[in-house]
Amino acid sequence: MITIVVAHDTRRGIGKDGWMPWDLPEDLKNFRKLTLHHDIVMGRVTFAAMKKPLSERHTFVITKNESYTYQHKDVTVLHDLTSLLREYKGSDRTLMVCGGAAVYAQALPYADDMWISLVDGEYEADTFFPPYDVQDFIIESKERKDGFTIIHYIRK
Ligand SMILES: NC(=O)c1ccc[n+]([C@@H]2O[C@H](COP(=O)([O-])OP(=O)(O)OC[C@H]3O[C@@H](n4cnc5c(N)ncnc54)[C@H](OP(=O)(O)O)[C@@H]3O)[C@@H](O)[C@H]2O)c1
Repeated sequence: MITIVVAHDTRRGIGKDGWMPWDLPEDLKNFRKLTLHHDIVMGRVTFAAMKKPLSERHTFVITKNESYTYQHKDVTVLHDLTSLLREYKGSDRTLMVCGGAAVYAQALPYADDMWISLVDGEYEADTFFPPYDVQDFIIESKERKDGFTIIHYIRK
């Protein structure tokens, strides 16, 4: 199963200068709650911004750089995102897709569901979540928080 987890604003902005354009600690708590004890995948740039691997999760880091290495029991460096997505798509195990832009774009067609924190307003951004059609999904739940709304979309 493939699950996307993202916070984007009303223009689908997700990042600015290597980090998120907003300061929403409650969204980071929600990210932790959703991803804990799951396998997660992220691009090399997002991983580098985290400074250290996220605890109690196994992280697949995607890079084209064949000489990039990262020695840690909870981290696997991979070069082929499509194979990883295909492996989890037909499996009971969940792969949580955690960005950034190109990783989201490649994973979107495979996504069974999406946890989207829809951040109020428009922020200056240099990185964007890909366009998606809400008609392809049903809204399983919607929870209003201070400054954002958590929407759980499940593919029809
Ligand atoms: N709001 C959110 O929920 C959220 C979530 C995640 C990230 N972000 C933000 O997004 C920004 C970072 O995202 P980004 O899009 O710039 O970078 P990114 O997706 O984290 O990393 C990009 C890198 O991933 C590797 N990569 C991507 N697709 C690949 C593929 N198919 N095969 C092999 N390698 C692949 C490449 O690494 P190499 O260059 O090493 O080859 C590429 O340069 C930051 O501002 C971050 O804060 C926001």
